[in-house]
Amino acid sequence: MSSQSFVWLVTGASRGLGFELTRQLLTSASNTVIACCRNPNSATKLHALQSSAGKLHLISMDVGSEQSMRDSVGMVDAILAGRGIDYLYNNAGIALTDDTPYNFSYSELLEELKINLAGPALLGQLYLPHVEKSQRKVIVNVSSSLGSIGSDKGTKYATYCITKTAVNMLTYKQSKTRPDITVIALDPGFVKTDLAGPNADLEPEESICGVLKVVTSVSIADTGKFFGYNGRELPW
Ligand SMILES: NC(=O)c1ccc[n+]([C@@H]2O[C@H](COP(=O)([O-])OP(=O)(O)OC[C@H]3O[C@@H](n4cnc5c(N)ncnc54)[C@H](OP(=O)(O)O)[C@@H]3O)[C@@H](O)[C@H]2O)c1
Repeated sequence: MSSQSFVWLVTGASRGLGFELTRQLLTSASNTVIACCRNPNSATKLHALQSSAGKLHLISMDVGSEQSMRDSVGMVDAILAGRGIDYLYNNAGIALTDDTPYNFSYSELLEELKINLAGPALLGQLYLPHVEKSQRKVIVNVSSSLGSIGSDKGTKYATYCITKTAVNMLTYKQSKTRPDITVIALDPGFVKTDLAGPNADLEPEESICGVLKVVTSVSIADTGKFFGYNGRELPW
């Protein structure tokens, strides 16, 4: 990484990939991470990162609550004191049930849409002025290869997949609306977290190592693209 310093806002930083991203970012003194989680007081793993090389700020944010997301802006403003956000990293997400389009729970579909789609969409809107203020101007919407229609992944986790396909469209629309901002959809791979379980392919360290290479090297020429953690472009 260069001598430049960067501000990252990461959602869902309490565990899984969001935590690992925060951990790896904080190994460098050039990164300031605003780590967002639902319960900062009980996020003991995050608190343990306070002594890292990078600068950590913990704030409360529930991406399923419009009010909580709106309230976060004042806290972030107080932290940044006029500085911008270089990387808005929409990581928080849920996958509730391995359902099908003919056998799913209506309330679970709405809940997944709220967290996986409406959250990142509103945060893109609320934090646009902060991204505009930065030189780097990158928005990452964490998607999944399961949201790729072109990858033909079959029936599994229908509602989750639908929400991730919607995240891809959000990314496309954001990139077309503001061509001066680099916005990408990103698949972190099949990773051993609470969401994917212990039989997944990758350790969080490996996934995030790849993710960071992709995210820190994308340029405006990559806006509106869908990347895997290994840098390969994925079909929509
Ligand atoms: N793991 C994989 O194989 C895989 C594959 C493709 C895509 N992804 C995507 O990667 C992202 C991270 O997944 P993960 O595997 O790290 O999952 P995870 O281990 O289950 O962690 C999910 C994170 O999201 C947070 N979260 C959930 N609901 C939230 C809410 N309402 N408000 C704020 N934060 C909330 C959780 O916070 P709490 O601790 O407060 O619950 C937690 O920090 C998700 O978007 C997921 O869809 C994962």
